[in-house]
Amino acid sequence: MFVKTPATTKIEDETLDTQLRPKTWDEYIGQDKVKQKLNIIIEAAKKRGEPVEHLLFYGNSGLGKTTLAHVISRVMGKGIKTCSGPTLEKTGDLASILTNLQDGEVLFVDECHRIQRLVAEMLYSALEDFKLHLILGKGPMARTMELAVPRFTFIGATTRLSLLPGPLRNRFGGIFQLDFYTSEDLEKIIRRSANILKVAIDQDAVRLLATRSRFTPRIANRLLKRVRDFATVEGSELITKEMATKGLELLEVDESGLEPEDRKILRCIIERFGGGPVGIKALASSAAEEPETILDIYEPYLMQLGFIERTPQGRVATSLAYKHLGIAMPQRDLL
Ligand code: ADE
Repeated sequence: MFVKTPATTKIEDETLDTQLRPKTWDEYIGQDKVKQKLNIIIEAAKKRGEPVEHLLFYGNSGLGKTTLAHVISRVMGKGIKTCSGPTLEKTGDLASILTNLQDGEVLFVDECHRIQRLVAEMLYSALEDFKLHLILGKGPMARTMELAVPRFTFIGATTRLSLLPGPLRNRFGGIFQLDFYTSEDLEKIIRRSANILKVAIDQDAVRLLATRSRFTPRIANRLLKRVRDFATVEGSELITKEMATKGLELLEVDESGLEPEDRKILRCIIERFGGGPVGIKALASSAAEEPETILDIYEPYLMQLGFIERTPQGRVATSLAYKHLGIAMPQRDLL
């Protein structure tokens, strides 16, 4: 028997993610203003026969930064090479990627706030004048050498704009923030994905999944795939609202789209720190999570829902959070 392990599910999901990824502007739903501005930058560069300027996308994870970079490379009619900031460990890693690019190609670097300082310094000159400044040898014998690289378009993505070094930020011709999606757009994305996956789903189920997707397409697609699994196991051809509700219950996704990990963070603030304020490090160690995971994954949505507030003293759980978890708020906090 073929058993689905977490590893095989991950590979399957990655293949599906590529399959679901929009390839053209028309297929890319939402972020209309960003799309419009990008389209003008690209068309103008095409008309002038110049490479498209370097672009930066920032916003929460799962909002389509990588997807957008792929759409852009396609619209430009150029190839794309992708990597992530932390994987560029040495200057040689960057030099090797840059020297192997084709003219006009896109280099997409995810998590670009995590590029090491020395690598970032080499990148600055490459972004500026498409030249690498290499240092050969060490000590008094050291010499510098300039090496031209193909003209390319750098697309950076980050969840944390404030951590991006100033010199890198200054080298982008366009900086764009990706927003959370509306329920309407998420419904369109779910319908499009269901079509590609050849799964029948009724409108009430689409609406339910959209409201539980944390305003994020990646989560909408993930929930759709898991509910599809549930329907397959139940032997149902159609995902109805009832089927979706049962699937979401099994996944422990509640009416606000919170998952067990989100509720754990809220409970931690309320039960271990009296509702806050609590500093991010204390909260992370108490919840057994990395501070970055809380900052990048959990906190943005909890703040968006108004369940957490950030004060100079730390995170505070709001009355909405107490209400959501069904915990009575201490009287002193109500004053
Ligand atoms: N899948 C992920 N993001 C998407 C988007 N913005 N439009 C369509 N499908 C998507």
